[in-house]
Amino acid sequence: MDVILIAAITADGYIARHSSEVVDWSLDLHLFRRQTMGYPVIMGSQTKKTLAMDLDGRETIVVHRHNDPEEILGNLCTDKCFIIGGGRTYTRFASYLTHLYLTIHPLVFGGGVTLFPDLDEELDLIFMQMISVEGRKGLYQFQYKINRPN
Ligand SMILES: NC(=O)c1ccc[n+]([C@@H]2O[C@H](COP(=O)([O-])OP(=O)(O)OC[C@H]3O[C@@H](n4cnc5c(N)ncnc54)[C@H](OP(=O)(O)O)[C@@H]3O)[C@@H](O)[C@H]2O)c1
Repeated sequence: MDVILIAAITADGYIARHSSEVVDWSLDLHLFRRQTMGYPVIMGSQTKKTLAMDLDGRETIVVHRHNDPEEILGNLCTDKCFIIGGGRTYTRFASYLTHLYLTIHPLVFGGGVTLFPDLDEELDLIFMQMISVEGRKGLYQFQYKINRPN
């Protein structure tokens, strides 16, 4: 199963100014919707609180600290699922990720929630492709596969 991290990030690697921020600066929501539609999406409880509405057409799994990522993923019957944030949740699922889809936004926050707070491993990425975000000049989603030693 593909386990895909998908995120909007700033040029300095942040996904939010603080953990309660409503991410209203993301410019690729239509791409996010199209790519995740029909697939399970996994998010942390803090991210859930920041969402104004449910994500229609997608099984939504909200993760709490007592949940086991391996068990959550093991219960899915799908060829693909998306880890949609936030930072703590990206970190908790890091060792199960197969791909990263990152849209780099023309912003620098200088501080905030990083993509992987407190990550205790390195991830080696293989570039796959770069997709231009429709209607947004200069905005691209970079897609990487995670290279894991067998
Ligand atoms: N730019 C993007 O693409 C993007 C995407 C998604 C989210 N975001 C933003 O990211 C921010 C939220 O990120 P986040 O990292 O703060 O939260 P998060 O990953 O959404 O949720 C926090 C997770 O950490 C757990 N947790 C909280 N305190 C803990 C502790 N002391 N020990 C162990 N686990 C703990 C929570 O479990 P409990 O429920 O048990 O507390 C929950 O599972 C929001 O501003 C959101 O808008 C941005």
